[in-house]
Amino acid sequence: MTIKWGIIGCGKIADNFTQSLETLNDGELIAVGSKTPGKAKAFAEKFNVKKYYTNYEELLSNPEVDVVYIATTHNFHYENVLQALNHGKHVLCEKVFTMNAKQANHLRELAKNKHLFLMEAMWTRFLPATKEINKLILEGVIGEVMFLQAEFSFKTPMDLTGRFYNMNLAGGSLMDQGIYPISYASMLFKKQPINIKTNVCMAQTGVDERGSHIFEYEDGKAALLTTSISYYKRVHAIIAGTKGHIEIPSFFRASEFTVKVGEKEIEYNMPHISTGKGYEAQEVMNCIKEGKIKSNLMSIDETVEIMETMDNIRCKWGLKYPEEMERCIKA
Ligand SMILES: NC(=O)c1ccc[n+]([C@@H]2O[C@H](COP(=O)([O-])OP(=O)(O)OC[C@H]3O[C@@H](n4cnc5c(N)ncnc54)[C@H](OP(=O)(O)O)[C@@H]3O)[C@@H](O)[C@H]2O)c1
Repeated sequence: MTIKWGIIGCGKIADNFTQSLETLNDGELIAVGSKTPGKAKAFAEKFNVKKYYTNYEELLSNPEVDVVYIATTHNFHYENVLQALNHGKHVLCEKVFTMNAKQANHLRELAKNKHLFLMEAMWTRFLPATKEINKLILEGVIGEVMFLQAEFSFKTPMDLTGRFYNMNLAGGSLMDQGIYPISYASMLFKKQPINIKTNVCMAQTGVDERGSHIFEYEDGKAALLTTSISYYKRVHAIIAGTKGHIEIPSFFRASEFTVKVGEKEIEYNMPHISTGKGYEAQEVMNCIKEGKIKSNLMSIDETVEIMETMDNIRCKWGLKYPEEMERCIKA
């Protein structure tokens, strides 16, 4: 059975995702939609896609489309997912899933009521290297996980035509980069922190340009997470356990890592195929075929919890996006 995909938003990540989708046997991209004049046509020509649309409604009305990948900027995710679910489509939505937990929770309930699959495109979770790290931890190779240090920084120009510094597109370091270390901490500790200490530096445009957080868990477990769109480039994670530790360069797109236990050091090299997005797409297709509405590896329930943590951080900072109508969930 071939699962037929549609894509909403024909930007950079849609291109990157499609390169990986092309490597899978049981998935086919059959329709793309873009509101930007000429973009859907150019995308369809580049990837040999049968149908292209200049609005999302027509794509979602195509009965052949089984599942929709939402690849627009953060501010549009809620309305795009809502529209797709209301057209009876399964959905994979880019990170960060929504602007806040209230939106995420509403989408979760809608998907549940309609018995449709819904998942945040946290592709890191499905990479062979990440799966191996989780397996080693489960086997107790580094003992009990006590501490995570994860940083995700790259410098991007203060350009309001792009999404990073743009308040109206729900830009900023937390939403774009912060989601990776925060989701990684959630994956490792299997819960949200009981206490958060956080610092932020705001850009002139109103978005957060860098932030650092200490997440505290029970039994003295902790995570130190830092992100920045305004200074040096470094993406790195260290997971420290009671017996040893794991170092993961570029943890969000991990292909290699080192396990150190005492004097023993083992290097793992687990490259991913194409752009690495095929693993999450395969998970989506497997779940749909099995009639599941959520993934065990990246459940929509965990996404809602992570959004609550992110709401909590933004409340501490006093940061709200122009489109947000409701009050923050936690003070
Ligand atoms: N998983 C990953 O590795 C990864 C990497 C990068 C980004 N992302 C995520 O993917 C999403 C899109 O990122 P991207 O880099 O692909 O973004 P992008 O190329 O800047 O924009 C994607 C699409 O969003 C819409 N859009 C962008 N700016 C707009 C504006 N000012 N007004 C109205 N619509 C606008 C357009 O949709 P139309 O085509 O319909 O006009 C555009 O094609 C974000 O949620 C981001 O966090 C994920």
